[in-house]
Amino acid sequence: MSTVRSEIAAGFDVQKVREDFPVLKQTIHGMPLVYLDSAATAQKPFAVIDAIRKFHEVDCANIHRGVHELSQRSTAAYEETRSKARRFLNARFTNELIFVRGTTEGINLVSSSWGRHNVKTGDEIVISAMEHHSNIVPWQMLCEEQGAKLRVIPMNDRGELILEEYQKLLNPRTRMVAVTHVSNALGTINPVRQIIEMAHQAGALALIDGAQAAPHMKVDVQALDADFYAISGHKVVGPTGIGILYGKTALLNAMPPYQGGGDMIKTVTFEKTTYADLPYKFEAGTPNIAGGIGLGAAFDYLTHLGLDQIAAYEHELLLYGTEALLRIPGLRIIGTAREKAAVLSFVIEGIHPHDIGTVLDRQGIAVRTGHHCAQPVMDWFHVPATTRASLAFYNTTAEIDALTAGLKKVKEIFS
Ligand code: ALA
Repeated sequence: MSTVRSEIAAGFDVQKVREDFPVLKQTIHGMPLVYLDSAATAQKPFAVIDAIRKFHEVDCANIHRGVHELSQRSTAAYEETRSKARRFLNARFTNELIFVRGTTEGINLVSSSWGRHNVKTGDEIVISAMEHHSNIVPWQMLCEEQGAKLRVIPMNDRGELILEEYQKLLNPRTRMVAVTHVSNALGTINPVRQIIEMAHQAGALALIDGAQAAPHMKVDVQALDADFYAISGHKVVGPTGIGILYGKTALLNAMPPYQGGGDMIKTVTFEKTTYADLPYKFEAGTPNIAGGIGLGAAFDYLTHLGLDQIAAYEHELLLYGTEALLRIPGLRIIGTAREKAAVLSFVIEGIHPHDIGTVLDRQGIAVRTGHHCAQPVMDWFHVPATTRASLAFYNTTAEIDALTAGLKKVKEIFS
């Protein structure tokens, strides 16, 4: 670890940060909660909980529809989140940020709206071997519908994408490259800047699944030159059911609406409907207003803590956790990329991950076990499932010690 990164991490007051997360102060089965499942969903600070509560207690009204005071206030708070999302992702224009239910819906919006109008028989879509199902299935559905072909960038034994093989997949038929920024199952941080540049050189667009990256590092969609970038609110300490799809203005303008309904129209007659301008063209129906407002508070919270500080602290935790786990005989870490976010997926010889998860839970330790919605990753590593400890900036080295002590107990029980 670089000295600078280590110094930044040393200045991070995790105990103070933990005070912001009420859920962490509880016992589970008589043991202090050790929450190591933040890749599934992150815990929420008071700032987010309070923002949602304030909306329901004080401002509650529908948005974009009322001249009355409550509607004005709700609209302003909701739209303020769009501006915060612009700053959070460093987009150029506020109307490039579309509210969606989460990353999954963001990807479906693009595959459906952009895909159906731009992908034809014989075209190709490139994804990678480490995608979450939500960045596989929508493209598969599109390919089936349009007679296009899905191509897959392979990875090496560490769980790193093989860029030479990626280059070979690119050709004039490639329309879209859809790749995750950080793998939820392996923790790999992909070189997305380079992946996007290679896609562009081949004349293709690039969509990045940012669900697991946005909580852990500063994302700059302009520096990346991403055409689309999708994130989920609940992974960035915000509420569930809300997320953001970023898209470049020209692309979004050229795309037809995703869904029809209220708020996405300019005029409606039985003969013809004209559509609203960006971003509303893609936002049919009453949205998750409380979620949107809560997400704004989450952006503020993470920005205030500092994404660079978070990344440095989590990197230190990852190193500590990796060393600690590797001391356990029979444990194999799945995903050992040189660039990695704070995800520790592992298997222990002879013990099923579900048994590991169950015994850990009895000790108050929450991990995820299973295929992590990434079955092809499991197939690639020839494992049915893994146990995954996913870390966040509110975790501590003491919690990692609790995990390793818990795993020793697992081994005693099952050996
Ligand atoms: N995609 C989430 C995870 O990795 C749910 O657990």
